[in-house]
Amino acid sequence: MALITASDVSLGYDNHLIVKKLNFSINAGDYLYIVGENGSGKSTLMKTLLGLLPPISGSISFGDGIKAGDIGYLPQQTIIQKDFPASVREIVISGCQGRCGLRPFYNREEKKLADDNMKRMDIVDLKNRPYRELSGGQQQRVLLARALCATQKLLLLDEPVAGLDPNVSAQMYELIEKLNQEGITVIMISHDISAAIRYASHILHIGEKIYFGTRGDYLESEAGRDFLLRNKSEGDKNYA
Ligand SMILES: Nc1ncnc2c1ncn2[C@@H]1O[C@H](COP(=O)(O)OP(=O)(O)OP(=O)(O)O)[C@@H](O)[C@H]1O
Ligand SMILES: [Mg+2]
Repeated sequence: MALITASDVSLGYDNHLIVKKLNFSINAGDYLYIVGENGSGKSTLMKTLLGLLPPISGSISFGDGIKAGDIGYLPQQTIIQKDFPASVREIVISGCQGRCGLRPFYNREEKKLADDNMKRMDIVDLKNRPYRELSGGQQQRVLLARALCATQKLLLLDEPVAGLDPNVSAQMYELIEKLNQEGITVIMISHDISAAIRYASHILHIGEKIYFGTRGDYLESEAGRDFLLRNKSEGDKNYA
């Protein structure tokens, strides 16, 4: 059974329709890129997959023992979030909140999980630093460590490289690819079509034209060809 199956899912806020009739399925180990123009509904789709927002119609089903609480989520960054006054360790361990239930403190196992994920993301040296004093790339690694505290199965990443310079973006892509190779299913929103073409197993394009399929099929599709043309400088890098 697929990890996530979306059947005729329409999305939006207060019955204001943003995306109509999405159909896709994701299997364990897949690496799905969600692409589309600004405002096309990518973040809204992620919030709907997380159960933070009900679909307007259609259904989303989860297989393989996945529940909304065992999904690791890296939200799209806003200026307010970037200024958050907590320490790195506090932010990372807050990814264990879904495991705590009503218990008002973190147990030894959760503290170890936070330490292990800080090691995995190479941010142990930063653990007592205030999050808001870190560079953009360091902040994204903190948020990835936090998301990993919530899951060993499925990560939802909303523009994890936005605003990062090309070197730091490349490091972030390598880290995420490694997690995918370790068996974690990844769903990532990105405007970086060249990265999508390089790393994705599947692409979901949302907008006026909707497309879901393998990366290879997307490049041959009308939606894929149009999107590549509009992002030509990015696309050119792949064919160079
Ligand atoms: N909380 C909200 N209430 C009402 N409308 C919203 C809300 N959040 C987003 N929208 C609207 O829903 C539409 C889709 O927004 P969404 O954030 O999903 O787009 P996106 O594809 O993630 O865009 P971007 O690439 O800029 O991040 C937009 O028209 C937006 O104004
Ligand atoms: Mg968004």
